Amino acid sequence: MSETYAVPTRVTQGSRGPIPSAEAYRETWLRAAANPDRFWLQIARERVVWRTAPTIGLEGGYREVRERPFTWFADGTLNVTETCLDQHLATRGDKTAILWEGDRPGETRTLTYLQLHAEVNRLANTLVSLGVRPDDRVILYMGMVPELAVAMLACARVGAIHSIVFGGFSAEALRDRVLDSGARVVLTQDEGPRGTKRVPLKATVDAGIEGLDVERVLVYRRTGGEVPWVAGRDLWWHEQVSSASPEFTAVERGAEDPLFILYTSGSTGKPKGVVHTSGGYLTYASYTHQVVFDVREDDVYACVADIGWITGHTYIVYGPLANGATTFMFESVPTYPDAGRYWDMVERHGISVFYTAPTAIRAIAAHGDDLVKRYDRSSLRVLGTVGEPINPDAWRWYYEVVGEGRCTIVDTWWQTETGGILIAPLAPATPTKPGSATLPLPGILPALVNQEGELQVGPSSGYLVITHPWPGQARTVFGDHERYVSTYFSNYEGLYFTGDGARRDGDGYYWITGRVDDVLNISGHRLGTAELESALLTVDSVAEVAVVGYPHQVKGQGVYAYVVLQPGFEASALVEEALNGAVRSIIGPFARVDLFQFVPGLPKTRSGKVMRRILRKVAEGEAEALGDLSTLADPSVVEVIKCGAKV
Ligand code: WTA
Repeated sequence: MSETYAVPTRVTQGSRGPIPSAEAYRETWLRAAANPDRFWLQIARERVVWRTAPTIGLEGGYREVRERPFTWFADGTLNVTETCLDQHLATRGDKTAILWEGDRPGETRTLTYLQLHAEVNRLANTLVSLGVRPDDRVILYMGMVPELAVAMLACARVGAIHSIVFGGFSAEALRDRVLDSGARVVLTQDEGPRGTKRVPLKATVDAGIEGLDVERVLVYRRTGGEVPWVAGRDLWWHEQVSSASPEFTAVERGAEDPLFILYTSGSTGKPKGVVHTSGGYLTYASYTHQVVFDVREDDVYACVADIGWITGHTYIVYGPLANGATTFMFESVPTYPDAGRYWDMVERHGISVFYTAPTAIRAIAAHGDDLVKRYDRSSLRVLGTVGEPINPDAWRWYYEVVGEGRCTIVDTWWQTETGGILIAPLAPATPTKPGSATLPLPGILPALVNQEGELQVGPSSGYLVITHPWPGQARTVFGDHERYVSTYFSNYEGLYFTGDGARRDGDGYYWITGRVDDVLNISGHRLGTAELESALLTVDSVAEVAVVGYPHQVKGQGVYAYVVLQPGFEASALVEEALNGAVRSIIGPFARVDLFQFVPGLPKTRSGKVMRRILRKVAEGEAEALGDLSTLADPSVVEVIKCGAKV
């Protein structure tokens, strides 16, 4: 039994949130579970600015999901930006909405709610003048500048659907997403400064959309560096926006109209475009941001994720702005100019809620405690983590060293598909245990099932499923509803399959153990093994390849590739370089293989199926526990693989 940490008094004192105590949590969770429909409808009506308030909660459900997506608040209408911006103008107009720190320490910008509102309107007018209409898809391929948030909100304001592509993706990955979404307008910037480097965003857009039907590229000038230019297609952001009006009447949308698409890796094939709605997503972003972080009026709230991932969508932009918070945006990396950067910013900006990923915590911890202790962290109250399981050692370091035992840790479990946090401590209410994401949020009904889909009761382990829809859940995969159904709802009839394994202890606390499908979690970034394999297979010398994950001290998981070369080719550092070159150009610079093992063949069943279980075990350093090998076509291959193992 691991130790339990009571919530420090600094965190419970002065909480004004709706769930300030463990008793309040229990009462709320039970009430919500008894009637999720009524619970969420009430939350939606309270937290969102509607044009037409909804009278309906959930329609449909997991069992009918193949025939039609379930819906939330279907008769409601709204424009998301009226909750995120307009409602605050009278009461918080001069409050800082976005507090931005650039690559260079101390380079800052602020946008008040009034200023943000005006910027969003200017860009909304610009988008309309570029021909963007409701339901059009707009690709955003930018760095972490305030204009990215402006772009998201401007799309929402005109009723268009944004799809952000993380700036670490390659031209080819960008191209796939432009094609799949059918976007005709792309917003980008000249370059993105990151530490000592400049990411060539505009040049990558040019390469990515060559020959496609993209009509307009709007370019924000960040560095002033030289960029290629296509006359007639490309426009400078500042030139367009400066002449645009700061007034714009937001377009009325249905609650179920899509707000955005975000592509994410799955266990097979190409990334899928996860579709999130307007009313349900916003309700969920607003509620979870409030109850998990217990955000208060004078907080400086900082989520240092990249907006290219779901964490930035929900917990840098939509959640905090819906709640009228001051949200911090960070352009650079945690180790620039040194590994004390986060705490330097905490001191300078008085950050009170800080949210990052275990991989960053481990990477910074490796540089020693001095780089933390040299800065004043007394403003901190809540420390969040997301993206992968946090090992108890890293948890304790975060708690003891960064938070000096005064802050609570919220380990938040969720996914791109879930829209927001599902399992996590509520800052003022939930005692924590190092390594556990603790308890489900109100209105969330998780369960564990075994391989056969049988529900496990009490303390147990199994596959993590959710038994009932919630408003923030993705409704479909863009253009491929069948893929949505087969990925999430076909494993276990009537249940949402998360792809994660978990354990539940005697207190009902959940301990997420990681993916059970062929998705890797590298530094908190999701990568499909199938995507990596198809990139590696483009290299001529490669005959066969299989990719698995292995435990990595900093990244959580590393990428381990088994490669069979074509006859006549030999393993070498050069071949490895070529292989990683292919990964970089097809997926992007953030992806790479950490360990290569060149093998004469892959372990296969007699029917030719690669036995990945064996490859996983070897990469995890558990070659002695391979289990039943009797179905292998050629068991001798396994011996060779075991001998050459890189771990
Ligand atoms: C993993 C990120 C353990 C998990 C928001 C999930 C976690 C995948 C945690 C989703 C956590 C996320 N503890 N594992 N607190 N948070 N994960 O879509 O495997 O990028 O399925 O969403 O990250 O990754 P995604």
